[in-house]
Amino acid sequence: MGVAAKIAPSMLSSDFANLASEAQRMLDCGADWLHMDIMDGAQLDGLLFDNVVAILLLHFVPNLTIGAPVIESLRKHTKAYLDCHLMVTNPLDYVEPLGKAGASGFTFHVEVSRDNWGELVQRIKSKGMRPGVSLKPGTPIEEVYPLVEGEYPVEMVLVMTVEPGFGGQKFMPETMDKVRALRKKYPSLDIEVDGGLGPSTIDMAASAGANCIVAGSSVFGAPDSAQVISLMRKSVEEVQKNY
Ligand code: DX5
Ligand code: ZN
Repeated sequence: MGVAAKIAPSMLSSDFANLASEAQRMLDCGADWLHMDIMDGAQLDGLLFDNVVAILLLHFVPNLTIGAPVIESLRKHTKAYLDCHLMVTNPLDYVEPLGKAGASGFTFHVEVSRDNWGELVQRIKSKGMRPGVSLKPGTPIEEVYPLVEGEYPVEMVLVMTVEPGFGGQKFMPETMDKVRALRKKYPSLDIEVDGGLGPSTIDMAASAGANCIVAGSSVFGAPDSAQVISLMRKSVEEVQKNY
């Protein structure tokens, strides 16, 4: 018996002008969680100092999506688990506002939290949220082991299966080695995958050991979203029968 399947439609692919009704539609279609992508805008900037160009990494991803005020508004319309994925350079600054806004899960990126993840996890928990850590396709899986095994452990690992930033990208099968390694090491950990998941890629992710499935374009773009959600759930459950 493995950890329960959780299907989390990514609201990034929804009609933001009708967020509450889109959220309810997904729950009616069988979604377990609602995945909320919090992104911090343009990525690179260059400065010219005495003929030397300095490139600064100002933000985590080049897209700007939603923040705590939107989570707060949505929370007034739903009791659903809001699975927040923080693609920002300074996740610590978002703990207080997202906690107040009613976020359920708070998943930060390891690439920007190498020095303060202990404090971050404690603060997330103190605000009543469930801590998770995410990693980009190029980040080695070993980087998250200390966070899973620490004194204040994260409760979920989100393995990005595309470069963070946008919906509708192509699933990267090479990231499955990381999911397999995690599942082997932590049989009861929630392992989430995010990016390019849909009917044609779900079996790869499920058989590698993922149980939390984020899917944006494949769910919202389908004529029958409920059918796609159910197909992905079945794929995870089928693999778990063999655990
Ligand atoms: C990408 C986001 C994803 C995105 C997934 O940076 O983290 O949650 O919405 O979208 P699809 O399923 O379309 O790849
Ligand atoms: Zn995401």
